[in-house]
Amino acid sequence: MRTKLAAGNWKMNGLKADLAEVETLVANHPAPLCDVLLCPPATLISAMAQIAGASLDVGAQDCHMKGSGAHTGDISAAMIADAGGSHAIVGHSERRADHHESDVLVRAKAEAAIEGGLIAVVCVGETEAQRDAGETLTIIGNQLKGSLPDHATAANCVVAYEPVWAIGTGRTPMLEQIAEVHDFMRNALVKRFGAEGDGMRLLYGGSVKPSNATEIFAVSNVDGALVGGASLKAADFGAIIAALDAA
Ligand code: PGA
Repeated sequence: MRTKLAAGNWKMNGLKADLAEVETLVANHPAPLCDVLLCPPATLISAMAQIAGASLDVGAQDCHMKGSGAHTGDISAAMIADAGGSHAIVGHSERRADHHESDVLVRAKAEAAIEGGLIAVVCVGETEAQRDAGETLTIIGNQLKGSLPDHATAANCVVAYEPVWAIGTGRTPMLEQIAEVHDFMRNALVKRFGAEGDGMRLLYGGSVKPSNATEIFAVSNVDGALVGGASLKAADFGAIIAALDAA
């Protein structure tokens, strides 16, 4: 049985004052059935981890492939752990696009996160042009193959399927399309990792909000969500946590 996971990605949003939302979230959902993760900007990891207590996990939005050194602006797995983080998102489509991150680099980052004791949340997803061209499953298959380390396990790795065209747009795939990709990913992971692939959590991400969470969580092989905009407000993210607990 896979423990469900509600993960939030604050992206480049959030100042200290916004931690009040996390205080509200923890007060309203002190002990959810599902795992809950919030990934704020690196500047807030430490402060958020103190508020989070045992109610939720805190993670980073990226992780450098090296442990330390001359890499201005980057942070390492050890730094994330030192700040109180337990997870690192790697390969988000915004980083793949804005920072030209390849599958090879994403895999190295995932390996570094895992080596550093973090859980890697590895993101994959097709662009709209790729979907229109009928390439979705090929793209997802290649990204999984290229981005996941060989020693990925159910305990150290989570996969997030995030169609690029659904992120921040208010558009979501049809439920059958989500099911098709998640079933495809499950089969690919079981083929490569055996029982570990069966145990890996598969998140859907892209315009998840309280009003569509319940139907998305009912889709086969959807073990939770990676939520951007709707994770910034305690009321919205709390409603998504409640929907996942009820699923
Ligand atoms: P969104 O972002 O929920 O704002 O669409 C999702 C993500 O990029 O993780």
